[in-house]
Amino acid sequence: MNDAPDVTAAPDLASMARQAAFLLVQGRADAAAALCGHIQAIDPNLETFGAFVDLLIWARPRERLYPLVRALVDAGFANPRSFDLLAATAIWAGDIPAARELTSPERFLSITRLHGPDDPDLAPLVAELASGLEHYDRPGDRSIRMGSRRNHLERSDSPVLRRLLDRLWRVACDYVDRLPADPANPFLRARPAGLVLKAWSVVSGAETRHLPHLHATSWVNGVYYAEVPPVVADVAGRPGWLRVGPAAGRGFPAAGCGAGGWEERWIRPEPGLVVLMPSHFTHETVPLGCDQRRICVAFELHPAPPGQAGHSH
Ligand SMILES: [Fe+2]
Repeated sequence: MNDAPDVTAAPDLASMARQAAFLLVQGRADAAAALCGHIQAIDPNLETFGAFVDLLIWARPRERLYPLVRALVDAGFANPRSFDLLAATAIWAGDIPAARELTSPERFLSITRLHGPDDPDLAPLVAELASGLEHYDRPGDRSIRMGSRRNHLERSDSPVLRRLLDRLWRVACDYVDRLPADPANPFLRARPAGLVLKAWSVVSGAETRHLPHLHATSWVNGVYYAEVPPVVADVAGRPGWLRVGPAAGRGFPAAGCGAGGWEERWIRPEPGLVVLMPSHFTHETVPLGCDQRRICVAFELHPAPPGQAGHSH
């Protein structure tokens, strides 16, 4: 390393994000959406979207931001980060029905059972999911803390993994098929023409957790639980549980997480359970807090690249 300036530095995405917010405040939603799309092409995970949000909140009272963000979404910047912001601005505006269009667990959160505890694939599956792991300590670009993953399960030729992914694909297709067609709903309107599934395992120990996050590059995401330790029976501490609901610090009314506009749900893992949600649904996990092990598979439905063979919907 030396101290010479990096002449090949990436464009300043935070400055571009603030510029896009200025355009939006000036009523130029099309130009703002185009610039946001340009940022997204460079940084698909939109890590600097916070700069866009911060400038909007600085420029306008937050209870007046909903029409601006709605115009941005309608102009084509439609993805989990803009849906999450749209839901927050609806709550700040006091428009609970508009928020629920995007956040309703009754409409959009699916909890089903793929199999019971005696599934014959379970033992070889757990062995596969716990092999080939990469450890993650505190990565700056991911929500996982102190846990291990086997990445790219969809690239494996293992028969037991192929069977699992086929089963998850069918459950995911059932979920997508149950979603109504509603052109007025930004999330439903964003349904990709074709989908592909990507998946990775997560092996959690005593300290593993996931910070509140959403899945910015997919349309729908989910989790399947393969091995669940006894400690999850603690309904007070909820170790190893999944929380789906707004992150803290959004400035929502204290009672009931957004006064009914953005409810939270707590899910206790069970072997065979599958949870599906829109990718703009923020979620997090609680550490086990003891020397036990939980193994799950996280998966995402992405828009299929043009002409891609394989899973399509
Ligand atoms: Fe997640």
